[in-house]
Amino acid sequence: MFSDTPTSIQAPTLFHASPTLNVSDSEVRDMREFKGKVAVVTGAANGIGRAIADVCAREGMKVVLADINKEALARAEAELEKAGSTVLAVQTDVSKAEDVEGLARRTYDAFGGVHLLFNNAGVMTTGTVWENTLSDWRWVLGVNLWGVIHGVRTFVPLMLGQGTEGHIVNTASMRGLSRASSNGVYCVSKHGVVALTETLYYELAQRDAKIKVSVLCPGAINTKIVDVPERRLIEHQNVPGERGMTPEDEETLRELRHGTRTGMSPQAVADKVFDAIRDEKFYIITQPETRFESRDG
Ligand code: NAI
Repeated sequence: MFSDTPTSIQAPTLFHASPTLNVSDSEVRDMREFKGKVAVVTGAANGIGRAIADVCAREGMKVVLADINKEALARAEAELEKAGSTVLAVQTDVSKAEDVEGLARRTYDAFGGVHLLFNNAGVMTTGTVWENTLSDWRWVLGVNLWGVIHGVRTFVPLMLGQGTEGHIVNTASMRGLSRASSNGVYCVSKHGVVALTETLYYELAQRDAKIKVSVLCPGAINTKIVDVPERRLIEHQNVPGERGMTPEDEETLRELRHGTRTGMSPQAVADKVFDAIRDEKFYIITQPETRFESRDG
């Protein structure tokens, strides 16, 4: 997969065990001990992001919750605070560079640093790639791909400047490693996240950086991610320049909903993410058995 990889850097493996860490007992990595450290999670109000935020809190980290959904964000903040965690909630639209920069400012003002960054916020849409409107493309690429780009451009220089160990997890999808009919815009965005994160891995490794990177590629996970495109299609039914629901969309949404409802729990995903951070595993493939199904679309 990585033919032009510098030979001194070990390529991460996709579907096999990760390379073993080359550390002696006396050099146990700092990033296996999370207590007191700072985590930033985007898309933290629901689903996988919320489950990751819960694990961060359980590990004794200070948690920065970022989400576009004000009400859900306030709920998550209140619940984590009630459980005794130190939390900062920052309403953020990750598709906007200035919002992500504001998130970084608020985080550094409150806690003085970041150790774990989860670029997780994401949305999806249905439809063929020629029917998807410009606003479909801009919305999904804006959140899924530009959101991660803004996260990397904003936080990596700051985290490098800190000089401490850190770890960045970018959320892609199995659909970033395969393709699926009627979900093409989403696949394009997630392929971009995989490519960006693989490149980031090498660029940091070439510089011997203390920041490690992983790309999270879940299969179907039991969240409400399918409700969002459904709501959007209904709202756009008679809006000029937008696309309303077609029978094909209904069918795709039905299949996606069945997949997510019977999928893995977000809590199980969050636990796998933390195992991967501890083991410095690059590809986090939550359901490796589903990869060929995904390829068959
Ligand atoms: P979810 O819909 O439960 O949560 C996504 C969160 O992102 C929501 O709280 C939403 O308000 C927030 N969000 C949406 N647009 C945003 C924006 N512009 N700025 C900031 N926050 C925004 O979805 P879920 O399933 O937890 O998704 C999390 C990530 O996992 C996404 O990147 C998704 O693509 C990915 N994923 C999900 C899978 C699934 O089956 N649920 C499978 C593979 C990947």
